[in-house]
Amino acid sequence: MAETFEPLSNDLILRAARGEPVERPPIWVMRQAGRYLPEYNQAKGGRDFFSVCRDPELASTITLQPILRYANLIDAAIIFSDILVIPQAMGMTVEMLEAKGPHFPNPLRKPEDLSQLKSEVDVRAELAYVFDAIRLTRRKLAGRVPLIGFVGAPWTLMSYMVEGGGSKTFMFVKTWIFKHPSTTHSLLARITDVCVEFLAHQVLAGAQMLQVFDSWAGELSPHDFRTFALPYIRRISARVPVRIKELGGEPVPMTIFAKGAWYALDELCESGYQVVGLDWTHDPESAVAVANGRVTLQGNMDPNVLYGGREAITQAVERIAKGFGGGRKGWIVNLGHGITPFVDPEDLKWFFEETRRVTGASE
Ligand code: CP3
Repeated sequence: MAETFEPLSNDLILRAARGEPVERPPIWVMRQAGRYLPEYNQAKGGRDFFSVCRDPELASTITLQPILRYANLIDAAIIFSDILVIPQAMGMTVEMLEAKGPHFPNPLRKPEDLSQLKSEVDVRAELAYVFDAIRLTRRKLAGRVPLIGFVGAPWTLMSYMVEGGGSKTFMFVKTWIFKHPSTTHSLLARITDVCVEFLAHQVLAGAQMLQVFDSWAGELSPHDFRTFALPYIRRISARVPVRIKELGGEPVPMTIFAKGAWYALDELCESGYQVVGLDWTHDPESAVAVANGRVTLQGNMDPNVLYGGREAITQAVERIAKGFGGGRKGWIVNLGHGITPFVDPEDLKWFFEETRRVTGASE
């Protein structure tokens, strides 16, 4: 049986995701718990990143940091974890190198390397620490705001697993998909199965909304996105609600954020998600026209505007809010990608306050 938690005192983001009219648009920020916050750096100390993810007490403390700092300005929490916990659960070693990012000592460079993956992944056991962190975070949130769970999309996860880390050229994964399309599809299908199980169990543990991050979508041509990314994005949205019900839970709103896939916006609006995340390469007006009320849109200020100071932030907020039609329906305010280190937390606060002012909220 799923645990029961305190009722929500702020369910704005869930109502906006369902397409209901709202008194003001909800706000949260991707990567809102992270290195730009001094309290994050302090809590993490010298610890290894993934050992922090595996410590439910610490992960829940970090998840709550932006909620405490920006009390009443922020409308959702996102569980502190990483998209790369799936490759780990599938049997791969992933390290987080200081100032360099993720590193896989044994990447999947050729089809024979697939033998290092487990044939069966016991998601409940392998990722139990995430479910524990979610349950603990729900208790600590005590209904203040909804908690978002997430996964990396299959294409993005495959890219990391094959490249062995971030990449500028994507040479290894492009070699793989164009040389071995059929093993590509079987690998993407295996990753998808783990994603579905992981998302469903996050909801059973207490996640109230889900987001799928396809951070490397923009590396594919429109044709290859339709071939290697979109079918698995759709499979996730089709299967997750079914799996949640099988497990005895209630489906929750789902968001797809396919960074760089501006060309696929129309298809993403038909991909089975209630919310479509936009990076900053979209003009809000045109995105609203394409979406035409089919989904709620999320985004999309360039996170680097936060480096530009208060005047730049105010101008961007005014322009973007106008583009989204004011936000009483169909808009969740966010950045167009994760917030970056070195942003002054006071400037992020200004972004929240200006959004509130411009979207006409009096509370
Ligand atoms: O606050 C939140 O949004 C929740 C936590 C979260 C993290 N990573 C924590 C993190 C979330 C949702 C992610 C998702 C994630 N992880 C993505 C998708 C979003 C995106 O940015 O496109 C990706 C591609 C990753 C993989 C990853 N993890 C990279 C490339 C890096 C290194 C780059 C960087 O920003 O540091 C990480 C590390 C990471 N994940 C950190 C945090 C707070 C910083 C590591 C540290 O503290 O040492």
